[in-house]
Amino acid sequence: MENFTFHVPTDIRFGKNRLSELPEVLDAFGKNVLLVYGGGSIIRNGLYDRVVEQLKANGNTLVELNGVEPNPRIETVTKGAELCREHGIDVILAVGGGSVIDCSKAIAAGTFVEGDLWENLVAKRRYSGPAVPIITILTLAATGSEMNRGGVISNLKTQQKLSVSGENLLPKVSFLDPVNTFTVGSYQTLAGSADILSHLMENYFNATPGTEVQDSVTEGLMKTVIHYLPIALEHPEDYDARANLLWASTLALNGLTGNGRKGSWSCHAMEHELSAFYDITHGIGLAILTPRWMAHILNETSLPKFARFAREVWGIDEADEERAAKKGMQALYDFFLENGVPMTLPEVGIDSEDDFEKMAQQAVTHSTITETAFVPVQKADVISIYQASAAPSQFI
Ligand code: NZQ
Ligand code: ZN
Repeated sequence: MENFTFHVPTDIRFGKNRLSELPEVLDAFGKNVLLVYGGGSIIRNGLYDRVVEQLKANGNTLVELNGVEPNPRIETVTKGAELCREHGIDVILAVGGGSVIDCSKAIAAGTFVEGDLWENLVAKRRYSGPAVPIITILTLAATGSEMNRGGVISNLKTQQKLSVSGENLLPKVSFLDPVNTFTVGSYQTLAGSADILSHLMENYFNATPGTEVQDSVTEGLMKTVIHYLPIALEHPEDYDARANLLWASTLALNGLTGNGRKGSWSCHAMEHELSAFYDITHGIGLAILTPRWMAHILNETSLPKFARFAREVWGIDEADEERAAKKGMQALYDFFLENGVPMTLPEVGIDSEDDFEKMAQQAVTHSTITETAFVPVQKADVISIYQASAAPSQFI
């Protein structure tokens, strides 16, 4: 196991009926609030009214930024930073999924950055300056952004989607009420769970030896998601299903399962290019790519971990290592397919190979997957994985 520091001081307020705590939480930072939200789901499900009621009763001054896009755009970040400067905002309240929270993180930093926020903030990837404090009310179990230091922003003009991270971008307080996720539709519930599983798999398929704590915690979280996703799809208002998916999403990407390992994530590097070029849903892109990536990198190094994944996570009883590994890949693919994920690129609108070369080039340029991945992959490998994702697959 590698050395690590695990210091994630986000104050998590988990559970139902906790919104009355919001005024006190905000008052620790000031009265001028920028309320950031997305395309209207919080208006439709009533959360907006409940939040605004609390703020008005508390005498807060409220400035709003709405319409944050899934795959949030740099233009929206710029608009938010201008609002913060113009109104002397004390604290940002992000109410929504990962996109709203990520956009809020970039706004929080961008308020203190001069000039073009793509060039001077996002494209730099690391931010060590000041930021407006962020409070989140999470409405979708997926990214883990509610308890981590990163945010992912898209630039459609340059066809780039990049993450930026910094100490001061960590939310101060995050409200995690499973009831707020009851209205998430099937497609986003699927995409969110695929994203959680991917974060866990990206950490788990790693070459660092001696990480049994992280490995067994990861397996437990993966089994939790696999158990509860079908229940949440069938019964969207099943509190325990939503609660377990929500808490799993936070723990999958707050350092708990990733610390102590070195190396880089492979499927996220490849998926961010699909989203950058075609604006597809992040979790769905990951579900499509992951089993194909596994099959592509199956070799002597990866075999033992893939076989362990099959046996521990999917309960596959198979003595032969290679057959076990392949059965695990098939189980993952079938799980996504049976729950309704469109499992080929044409089904999400990517029906030509024209951009594969450019996307593969960017995937290797924006990451270190050619050197430090579980099994390093080159540009040609990425193209092969995209090609394998264009048609239905069979792994055994
Ligand atoms: O915009 P609204 O109207 O709110 O609707 C959203 C959006 O259309 C809807 N939604 C959210 N909560 C809902 C709801 N609909 C009904 N009821 C609710 N309670 O769901 C749609 C998707 O929302 P979005 O925030 O885009 O989803 P998600 O949380 O999956 O975030 C995806 C973004 O996060 C990035 C992704 O790349 C993508 O841009 N990621 C961020 C990470 C991080 N900060 O650590 C890590 C991830 O790997 C990921 O890259
Ligand atoms: Zn992700």
